[in-house]
Amino acid sequence: MKRVPAIALLLASSFATAADFVDLRDAPAVRGDAAAGASKVAVCVACHGPSGNAVVPAFPALAGQHAGYLYQSLAGFRRRADPASPMTAQVQSLTDADMADIAAYFAAQSRTVPAAASSTDAPGARLFRDGDATRGIVPCQGCHGADARGHPGRDVAARYDYYPALAAQQAEYLAARLRQYRAGTLTDTSNARIMQGVAHNLDDAAITELAAWLTATPR
Ligand code: HEC
Ligand code: HEC
Repeated sequence: MKRVPAIALLLASSFATAADFVDLRDAPAVRGDAAAGASKVAVCVACHGPSGNAVVPAFPALAGQHAGYLYQSLAGFRRRADPASPMTAQVQSLTDADMADIAAYFAAQSRTVPAAASSTDAPGARLFRDGDATRGIVPCQGCHGADARGHPGRDVAARYDYYPALAAQQAEYLAARLRQYRAGTLTDTSNARIMQGVAHNLDDAAITELAAWLTATPR
């Protein structure tokens, strides 16, 4: 029997060609129609707030989020059909075009400036900027931007529009997502696997500090 080198098996398992895995490393720009999207979000803003500015802590803000990221997030909810997520029922009847329009609509809305003030000296700010080598925590700013508004290369390469802005996001939601990545329950795209690797070394204190600082950072 021919022996398959271990490295080949590793690569095959980490980037499997399974139908439910999406490789976003060469993702195209999402081109939806924001005006058409406006007529499709009545049900969404009931939970995500006016124009996508959420007020309930567990509901993520969508206003001003990048269209590529929003689109892929919606497609992910439809693909996974996780019965535990309230989003599953919301996306079942949406077409790809609906998702692109809705993503364009929310991307074009301005995010309300948070009431709390952020400090460049807060523990979360330092982790975001510098990471912490002693705990194996990598800096976040390289991928999410020094201002936490998204990948610095997003105007150059469409695939970076699939990296989310984090500033002024709901703290409870941010922490929940980081714990999800850390637990390895969200791994069905190349981007989710990037965050799984990052979150692996985050301890609970780091998650709380990062979420607290990010939510108070204006977008
Ligand atoms: C019943 C409340 C509710 C409704 C209605 C709702 N959502 Fe959500 N949405 C949530 C919750 C809660 C989450 C986080 C849950 C999760 O991750 O499984 C979420 C997550 C999301 C996310 C992921 C955000 C991110 O940063 O990754 C997007 C995008 C989204 N919703 C868009 C929509 C759109 C578009 C609609 C309308 C078609 C909608 N939602 C309707 C509650 C709701
Ligand atoms: C190497 C690049 C990279 C680094 C470094 C990185 N991220 Fe991410 N992050 C991503 C990508 C790509 C996504 C989108 C993942 C997806 O689509 O599921 C993401 C998603 C997220 C999300 C989900 C946002 C939402 O709206 O649902 C959070 C929260 C997050 N990152 C926080 C962090 C924090 C905190 C750090 C630093 C400890 C960090 N990231 C470092 C690339 C990175």
